Amino acid sequence: MNTPRSLSRVACVADLRAVARRRLPRAIFDFIDGGADDELTLKANRADLDRVLFKPRCLVDVARIDTGCTILGRPQGMPLGISPTGLATLACPDGELALAREAAASEIPMILSTLSGCTLEDVAATGPASRWFQLYVFRDRAITESLVARAAQAGYQALVLTVDVPVAGKRRRDIRSGFTIPMAPSAATVLDLACHPRWCFDAFRHGLPRLRNLDAFVTNAGAQTHATLINSQLGSGLDWSVLAWLRSLWPGKLVIKGLLSTEDALRAAEAGVDGIVVSNHGGRQQDAVPSSISMLARMAPLLRGGPELFIDSGIRSGADIVRAIALGARAALIGRATLYGAAAAGQAGIRHCLDLLQAELERTMALLGLTAIDQIGPDCLAALPWPESDARTPPDLARHS
Ligand SMILES: Cc1cc2nc3c(=O)[nH]c(=O)nc-3n(C[C@H](O)[C@H](O)[C@H](O)COP(=O)(O)O)c2cc1C
Repeated sequence: MNTPRSLSRVACVADLRAVARRRLPRAIFDFIDGGADDELTLKANRADLDRVLFKPRCLVDVARIDTGCTILGRPQGMPLGISPTGLATLACPDGELALAREAAASEIPMILSTLSGCTLEDVAATGPASRWFQLYVFRDRAITESLVARAAQAGYQALVLTVDVPVAGKRRRDIRSGFTIPMAPSAATVLDLACHPRWCFDAFRHGLPRLRNLDAFVTNAGAQTHATLINSQLGSGLDWSVLAWLRSLWPGKLVIKGLLSTEDALRAAEAGVDGIVVSNHGGRQQDAVPSSISMLARMAPLLRGGPELFIDSGIRSGADIVRAIALGARAALIGRATLYGAAAAGQAGIRHCLDLLQAELERTMALLGLTAIDQIGPDCLAALPWPESDARTPPDLARHS
């Protein structure tokens, strides 16, 4: 796929974000970009990643760099995956279909959200690939069972249970912009949309984004709309027994997403999950919690030999991927980065985002004197930003070396 002219000067994910900001209606950009409350955690995710410094090693032959790795038992092109993001069709009409195609082209896993704008079956039909299904558990367990059965039937290899949304985070930007699903017109939103005719044209041509995985249940549950279904069905009421219940339903790998404490991570490991996504939901749920990267560094030494660790929240560059692997992750996951790409230039923008990350990963490895992913470890770091007391449990990446 040729890079469109609009991306020729886009040199990093921050540049993609700037293009996305221009192209999307303000309310939609803020829905994607925003964080909860004071956005302290949103900022901390980046600030902490930025302060993890590298230790380059010289005079190493880096003519051949291999970013290949294994994630949940399957060979992949690089230690990166796409986090689930609901309604990716807000960013571009193809939404999750475009994400799935480009994840497959990069040989990385994609996690499809329960709340996706395309059906899980349509995403699976884009072709065989590493594909995981993210699950929100509905109070009506029959709905959850049906989603899990559909995901298994469609060939998803892993089920990713999101556990950090007992209630929805409060994102002030959405309140201020009047963003709701479905979109409710107000004077401000109509003006916002009028200033972005291309987005409106696409939206009306392809149909307004909606939660297509749930179409069947809107009728079955007797709910008025997808929104009322979500409001009445999602949220509190889950406890740890849900893991055993899902194990009884799901034949594949089981991953838990949204843990941010060592206690919960140990408990999940004891429960036998195959993977843990260390995540604060990109700073969109509880604010004023630690960055994901700092919690990964605390958890990794305690979970050596246990479930594979993944991290998301704030990952924006190939250097961030190296930081994550050095601190014990099997792979880093991205949520907003590929959405910025999708908003900037549709599928070509997603391709550009993944190409940038792959090239940055390779360049970072070369400059650090590393030629393979299993050489990335704590030795390639010069400094960590968290206090000395936390360094009592330095990351041990024995399983990577
Ligand atoms: C627009 C948007 C929608 C999201 N929807 C979901 C979702 O449906 N399920 C989920 O588990 N996480 C969801 N997330 C959280 C992401 O999976 C991920 O944890 C987060 O985006 C990572 O941070 P990053 O965007 O800084 O990479 C969403 C995030 C964004 C930005």
